[in-house]
Amino acid sequence: VAVTAIVPAAGVGKRMQSQHPKQYLSLAGKTVIEHTLAKLLASNYVERVVVALGAEDGYFYDLEIAQNPSVITVVGGQERVDSVLAALKASEQFAPQADAWSLIHDAARPCVSTEEIDRLVETCLTQHCGGLLAAPVKDTMKRGDTEQRVQTTVAREQLWHALTPQMYRTTELIQAIEQGLANKVNITDESSAIEAAGLPSMLVNGSPNNLKITQPEDLVLAEFLLMNEQRQEKQ
Ligand code: CTP
Ligand code: MG
Repeated sequence: VAVTAIVPAAGVGKRMQSQHPKQYLSLAGKTVIEHTLAKLLASNYVERVVVALGAEDGYFYDLEIAQNPSVITVVGGQERVDSVLAALKASEQFAPQADAWSLIHDAARPCVSTEEIDRLVETCLTQHCGGLLAAPVKDTMKRGDTEQRVQTTVAREQLWHALTPQMYRTTELIQAIEQGLANKVNITDESSAIEAAGLPSMLVNGSPNNLKITQPEDLVLAEFLLMNEQRQEKQ
């Protein structure tokens, strides 16, 4: 079975407020995107990676990983979903099999483990169903009104943080995204497009350490986690 990893990396990282887009910041000796791509390429299931880059990206081709024959690039789009769709269409050309799968993973999540990537892939392949890594919500959850007054406490038992990777059959996901865009669905992740299309999506347990680097304070924790990984590899 062919699994293509899709890596949206065309964002500008507005909330990070840094000089360079966050995927090109250095953490624990490597750029964020190099960590991310290394985790994906370490999975025995991943045959190829399609990276969606910003049209003006002036960083990626300076990285050694850009020379890797398993890494292909495309130009991304305005929103994350546009970048994912552009990469999916390229992936469909390289892996035209009807049962080909795509594994979408944010460039900004370098702390994912190859072990949990494999857990998602194996679950999807054995259950013949798409799905995503997700972590159960730990805090008590409140619904507030526009004045920030508590309305209710929301039962936490069925709430999950949606993470990436998210894995679906390539042609099915392309159709779901195109249909969602036509119907003005707010597609914030791949699962939301699949859900809107009425297709099943499974929650597979992932680690909360698989954080998305979003704000400056996330860098401290991400670097700590990546340094820890490197220390354990050396032992
Ligand atoms: N992304 C993308 N194309 C876009 C927007 C985002 O490929 N048009 C990618 C980002 O590069 C990132 C992932 O999608 O790897 C998750 O998005 P997010 O964390 O929102 O990153 P940014 O959009 O770059 O950050 P911000 O929203 O703060 O500007
Ligand atoms: Mg964004």
